[in-house]
Amino acid sequence: MPDEYAAFAPFYDLLSAEHPVYRAGRRAGAAALAPRPGDQVLDVGCGTGLNFALLQEAVGSTGTIVGIDRSPRMLDRARRRARRRVRRRGWRNVILLEADATTLSAEGIGARIASAGGRERSDAALATYALSLMPDWEGAWQRMLALCAPAASLAVVDLQEPTGAFSVLRPLARLSCRLGGSDVHAHPWHALERDCTDVVATSARGGHLQIRAGRRRPEPPA
Ligand SMILES: C[S@@+](CC[C@H](N)C(=O)[O-])C[C@H]1O[C@@H](n2cnc3c(N)ncnc32)[C@H](O)[C@@H]1O
Repeated sequence: MPDEYAAFAPFYDLLSAEHPVYRAGRRAGAAALAPRPGDQVLDVGCGTGLNFALLQEAVGSTGTIVGIDRSPRMLDRARRRARRRVRRRGWRNVILLEADATTLSAEGIGARIASAGGRERSDAALATYALSLMPDWEGAWQRMLALCAPAASLAVVDLQEPTGAFSVLRPLARLSCRLGGSDVHAHPWHALERDCTDVVATSARGGHLQIRAGRRRPEPPA
């Protein structure tokens, strides 16, 4: 599949309406995920790494962030962000891997994480504004689960059309989703509701941002 973010990567942070709109969902998602100090957190479709500072605050210097994205250009921006943080704040714990989240082999990626100094399975995982871009988001969700430890904490932050009084903003929301390549009707958080326990549901920006977090349901005994 073509990397539709290749040309957009240098401008993503500037043009993605981060501060007026999308940061609210990111913050709520990271807060609901609530990773603990020392945890390893997987960020699926990590893009330029806009979640990293929030995650780093929670996991601290003993934790690890693993970012997976299929776009080399977006990962390049994420790498630069991590390097800047290394210089300013001494971050050493970001592992970035280029892979397609819908087709990756969990064993193969687990082994790559381990060979980069992390653990094969993560304690927490999130996907912000990423699953609704993937036609096979269910496949990506299953792989995300497979890369997590039993009882890991998971969060999905994604988009839908605004509701109620905010419905007047639907054309704007549709345009923003079309430009970003996401399917506003995908609603991938339903998979988290199905496969997790202790689900917390919130929304922001007139329902446009949907946030779900929960704990991975234990696997039934074989
Ligand atoms: C809208 S950006 C969101 C980036 C980041 N999660 C954020 O919150 O800013 C979507 C990202 O998903 C990535 N992506 C799309 N399809 C993917 C796939 N099949 N596997 C891995 N990454 C994918 C894109 O390359 C892009 O970086």
